[in-house]
Amino acid sequence: MKSDKSPQVRDVFSSKMGVIAAAAGSAVGLGNIWKFPYITGVYGGAAFLFVYLGFIALIGLPIMLSEFMIGRKSRSNVFGAFKNLAPNSPWRLVGILGVAAAIMIFSFYGVVAGWSIDYIVKSVTDSFATKSPDELGSMFTHFIENPWLPIFYQLLFMVMTMAIVIIGVKDGIEKYAKILMPILVLIIIVLDIRSVTLEGASEGLNFLFRPDFSKLTADGVLSALGHAFFSLSLGMGTLITYGSYIGNNNNLAKTALQVTIADTLIAILAGIAIFPAVFAFGIEPSSGPGLVFITLPNVFQQMPGGFFFSILFFILLTVAALTSSISILEVVVAYFGEELKIKRKPATILATVMIAIVGVFCSLSMGLLKEYTLFGLNLFDLLDWISANMLLPLGGLFISLFIGWFWGRKKVEEELAKGAKLTHALISTLIFVLKFIAPAAIAIVFLNGLGFF
Ligand code: PFF
Repeated sequence: MKSDKSPQVRDVFSSKMGVIAAAAGSAVGLGNIWKFPYITGVYGGAAFLFVYLGFIALIGLPIMLSEFMIGRKSRSNVFGAFKNLAPNSPWRLVGILGVAAAIMIFSFYGVVAGWSIDYIVKSVTDSFATKSPDELGSMFTHFIENPWLPIFYQLLFMVMTMAIVIIGVKDGIEKYAKILMPILVLIIIVLDIRSVTLEGASEGLNFLFRPDFSKLTADGVLSALGHAFFSLSLGMGTLITYGSYIGNNNNLAKTALQVTIADTLIAILAGIAIFPAVFAFGIEPSSGPGLVFITLPNVFQQMPGGFFFSILFFILLTVAALTSSISILEVVVAYFGEELKIKRKPATILATVMIAIVGVFCSLSMGLLKEYTLFGLNLFDLLDWISANMLLPLGGLFISLFIGWFWGRKKVEEELAKGAKLTHALISTLIFVLKFIAPAAIAIVFLNGLGFF
């Protein structure tokens, strides 16, 4: 599934399952299992979850469908796509935004994926056994503050991503992801069962599902919007690229719905695994990026077969991160390749090296460089915040304006009629949302979150 072919001979996904597996592989990753629980904890639980779910349905789903349409119609990467569909216009600048977002996201994503690799090693060496929740907390803090080890694993992860992007996606990772991802879901369900049967679990379930909207802040609402984009891989052209490989017989609306539901369910299942345990073990729900890495080892300790489950879990988490990171890197590589005319292999190496340099500073900002902050955020948090809460929603805003106003109803109808029969009412609703609701909601949440109101 390389993107360096001419439109006539580009690959098309061979099956509907292939499309769903690739898009879901991009969507399901650290965002669901690491970031969702941690920011839900930071922003106060259920109220944040409900706002997030609202954004997924109202804004995420229509924008995912828009990205698929743009990709399939143009059969091109994110720049080529806007260049094709809107020649000689500034729309292609949306692509620049996408590349910037991809570089920032991979810089910190690789750090967390590196943590996951280290936790495979910790699981194999049985390092969680007999440790108290406090000890597991300081084990995590010590590890991320170490200036060498996290960087070693981060770079290892980045090289793995680079190798897969060079070799090509279709024959390698996708085939395995189709088998491995369902196993990851099964393990999370096993963790759910253990977690909700711990003593004191109900408090965690209340935290996750019983909303107290008074806890909601403008920053929390913006983060819920940003995370809807981040988790669904929207706003930077990833799904435009993947859409360009989708055959004309595919029902895009159905595919978008399936990917959205799968992604959301996995995040909620991860939440159910984490929060009951957080409360049962007396961990602070707002403890930040370490939440999952501190909480789950406690759960593994308390279950039969925990040793094996923990090894398997962190391996699969790393694989889930890989299927997402290749889709992130692909955005940058496609740009270098198709716009700057660099060959695929050197383009991939160049992109990886550039991102690795920023990434190393991200890792160091957890320890050695943590005093260096901007707006109170270290580099890791800053890149996460800017990309997820600013660049992705902005990208989404432009994509919805593009389809709603520039493309218009007739072209949408034509594109969606391929491989599907959609009712007039459904299309009218979609157009209305893309024209008015999504752009207005994004603009309001965005300005409000930045303190303009
Ligand atoms: N959706 C991925 C996750 O939840 O881990 C992260 C991601 C992938 C974000 C691709 C953006 C993107 F374009």
